[in-house]
Amino acid sequence: MPETRATGLTRRQCLLAAALPLSLPLPAMAQEGGVRVLRAAPLSHPLRGSAHPAITAWGYEGSVPGPLLRYRQGERLRLRFENALPQDSTIHWHGLRVPHAMDGVPHLTQPPVRPGESFLYEFELPDAGTYWYHSHLRSSEQVERGLHGLLVVDEREPPRVDRDIAWALDDWRLSPTGQLSDSFGSPHDISHAGRIGNAISVNGAAPADLALRRGERIRLRLVNVANARIFSLGFDGHAPQVIALDGHPVTPHAPPRGRVVLAPGNRCDLLLDATGRPGERHAVFDDFYPRQAFDLLQLVYGPAALRDAPMAAAVALAPNPLAEPQLQGAVRHTLRFEGGMMSGMHRALLDGQAVPMMQLLRQGKAWAINGVVSAGHGAAHAHDAPLLTLRRGQSCVLTLHNDTRWFHPIHLHGHAFRVLARSDRPTPWREWRDTVLLAPDERADIGFVADNPGDWMLHCHVLEHQDGGMMGVVRVIA
Ligand code: C2O
Ligand code: CU
Repeated sequence: MPETRATGLTRRQCLLAAALPLSLPLPAMAQEGGVRVLRAAPLSHPLRGSAHPAITAWGYEGSVPGPLLRYRQGERLRLRFENALPQDSTIHWHGLRVPHAMDGVPHLTQPPVRPGESFLYEFELPDAGTYWYHSHLRSSEQVERGLHGLLVVDEREPPRVDRDIAWALDDWRLSPTGQLSDSFGSPHDISHAGRIGNAISVNGAAPADLALRRGERIRLRLVNVANARIFSLGFDGHAPQVIALDGHPVTPHAPPRGRVVLAPGNRCDLLLDATGRPGERHAVFDDFYPRQAFDLLQLVYGPAALRDAPMAAAVALAPNPLAEPQLQGAVRHTLRFEGGMMSGMHRALLDGQAVPMMQLLRQGKAWAINGVVSAGHGAAHAHDAPLLTLRRGQSCVLTLHNDTRWFHPIHLHGHAFRVLARSDRPTPWREWRDTVLLAPDERADIGFVADNPGDWMLHCHVLEHQDGGMMGVVRVIA
């Protein structure tokens, strides 16, 4: 299991690599009359391979991550969630533009699914791309325990590649006994950077080296399913091209400064051309936290070449059917994110009362949006006043202002938005996203058409920050 340098490993050190395939096969899944079953239950999970004790995790259909769900663009998903957990749960379809009743937010869009009960999720899939699903109830505990999986919607005409591979990037906080630490939602994690783990996994296991053949073209789908860890991946000796972000096509481009940055919730599709020579090894490394840089895995070239020259230039994917925001005349709002340690926030509104910061911390709260701390997914949650109300069809530009000392990936449900500018500088690709990472003091202008009626969550995807109050509702009225 790779650990970061802080726990004794250097970037160039060779990491333990289990002989596990990294490509996700189509899962065999329980089917009943065209409805797939996704059953959540505790399980014993061999996170660090058979040489180490398994951890007790929670998974869908007996695996962590859950089965890779794969559909064609335009198809209908029909899936019965069965809850065999000791807690209530729901499933949220991260990044998918679903009808409000299918969004999986307890109390806001559906009642919690109690242990022993089930819920039928059913909706169309208008957009192609790389998405994921996860619990949205006590998510700082349930997602950390393993309740997440990838969902791929294939384009009507997928680009030609030799292999299509997905990596769910995660980390786990293991206690000295090797079991999952049960410090979920600790006050320290809530008020600082969130629950950052000490053991990295790819697809729920120790990252395995990736065998390549010279000339091969790989579509690599990267998904950050971690609670709080940000990944910043570099590919030694290779020049991957970014072709989609958060599921949606983008003009193919080299990752800025040579790093693919993925905050919790983010996805990135890369075209990776295998330009190395037989016998070579190249690291895929992560250096987001500079003093904890590490090698994730190695790209290992076998003796045979597939083709001598790489395939022709990257081709742009066909766009998804998203409505283009009309920036002139768009309604504009600012959302200011405040709080956390070392902040200037002295008090904020919780349940309508101005509460001093020290008292907020004692109640497990640390963050506010426009001065308001979310009380969370309680039964009362559906009655939280929306942060803002939009009319259906309205174009909206939101300035998201990170007025804290911490990173926050801000996620909006039910919509995708264009990232128009960062701290007043226009972005080169105006990419569509559903989760935008804000650095400390950074501002992002995002634009979208409010075309999906309902009350939609907007929250930080550091799940401990979400717990700590960095959450609110954007209302779209018909
Ligand atoms: Cu992936 Cu509201 O979350
Ligand atoms: Cu945050």
